[in-house]
Amino acid sequence: MKINRFAEVGNWVLERFPLAKVWEEHMTHYYAPKNFNIWYFFGSLALLMLANQLVTGILLTMNYKPDAKLAFDSVEYIMRDVHWGWLIRYMHSTGASAFFIVVYLHMFRGLMYGSFKQPRELIWIFGMLIFVCLMAEAFMGYLLPWGQMSYWGAQVIISLFSAIPVIGDDLSLWVRGDYVVSDATLNRFFAFHVISVPLVLILLVFMHLVALHEVGSNNPDGVEIKKYKNEMGIPLDGIPFHPYFTVKDIFGASVFLLFFATVIFYMPEMNGYFLEHANFIPADPMKTPEHIAPVWYFTPFYAILRAIPDKFAGVVGMGGAIVVLFLLPWLDRNPVKSIRYRSGFYKKALLLFVISFIGLGYLGTQPATPTLTMFARIFTAIYFGFFLLMPLYTRWEKTKPVPKRLTPHHSLEEDLPALFEELTLLKHSDSENGDPAFRGSFFNLRPNPDGIIKVLGRFAKKIVESLD
Ligand code: HEM
Repeated sequence: MKINRFAEVGNWVLERFPLAKVWEEHMTHYYAPKNFNIWYFFGSLALLMLANQLVTGILLTMNYKPDAKLAFDSVEYIMRDVHWGWLIRYMHSTGASAFFIVVYLHMFRGLMYGSFKQPRELIWIFGMLIFVCLMAEAFMGYLLPWGQMSYWGAQVIISLFSAIPVIGDDLSLWVRGDYVVSDATLNRFFAFHVISVPLVLILLVFMHLVALHEVGSNNPDGVEIKKYKNEMGIPLDGIPFHPYFTVKDIFGASVFLLFFATVIFYMPEMNGYFLEHANFIPADPMKTPEHIAPVWYFTPFYAILRAIPDKFAGVVGMGGAIVVLFLLPWLDRNPVKSIRYRSGFYKKALLLFVISFIGLGYLGTQPATPTLTMFARIFTAIYFGFFLLMPLYTRWEKTKPVPKRLTPHHSLEEDLPALFEELTLLKHSDSENGDPAFRGSFFNLRPNPDGIIKVLGRFAKKIVESLD
């Protein structure tokens, strides 16, 4: 009787609301390429991190005070007195860094598999708009604890606007709402961080996914699965997103959450990289910290800004580093999508780009000495060279033949058990004399130096071969 009532209510809703239709269209009857690998976890992980930031952010707002006199103390109050406040704050602050790690890996996957190419240009553009919003969101959020680095970081970045000719000074005054960063700045950043930017972000993520489902996902082979369909119109190389990829994504999220929880519980500040040491001192407009550096996810762009001697040119360079990413779908002229079938030249160029990006990220955290500035200039040149020379080198590239259908490919997940066996040894004494309950178990394993050298050797050989 009760079940019938539930069914009746369910049917009543479904007759008035297309829930089942949407679920079918986008989950059970949405066919995704069956060769997704671990790089395809990061989209759903980005969604998970977005949800984490929204939920923990709302909870933090319940006890935070957006007032220059109270903000720092209210954060300390959350950390010390609010029930589970420390956990919520660390989930949010570590969550911001985790969000950027996930998004950078998600973008790198796009570069590897050419996911930005025709017909997915709009997915990429929405992604880039999300990236810009995410940076604005993180920048404004960082002011809220009103610590020394919040204050001086904001002061430095907002004053960059004043480098713009003619309107610069007025623009930075307008952004701050005062001649220096002050209570007025804190209030407006709070409003933007808590409501305006999150709303835009949610809207952009929605459009990102609508655009994705219109054309369908790319895949590690860079082959369009919609070209070959069976008589029912189902792609031959596709499988329903639900249950296959929902289960896969839940597994990915579980592994990710293990790492995330480890960082939250054991190293939430990540030695000053996730929460800078100077931010545990209340903001003091009369005392500049010795070394001002933004949080790690901004440092590649900050290093580009500092590498260019002229202030205005530096601001243009920093902005340009983001603008070129928007143009990527039109800069890369090679129709071959996946790195698997691209030339050794492109692979080397991508590797060099990644090294430069990480190098710039590191240099942005360090004081600008002459030697480090020289390296920052070299890396900046490589960063821009990678993108701006693309229309030339991607046209001449010698690519490998692309298969028509997906190819069977050994994935890392499949090789993991054998790899683990090769990398570890059973502890000799324990295996003979130890507690029989643990004999041969995970607890009796130790690293196997010979195995590690062999695996690393094979790995290096594979990379060198693939670059040819
Ligand atoms: C809040 C941030 C973001 C969220 C929640 C998000 C979400 C997703 C999801 C769920 C997918 C499908 C699953 C997958 O392919 O991994 C996806 C695909 C994609 N995303 Fe994002 N994304 C975000 C940011 C970005 C950014 C910053 C870019 C690049 C600028 C980007 C570019 C792409 C591309 C090109 C695809 C299609 C990939 C393919 O089919 O191979 N996304 N995104």
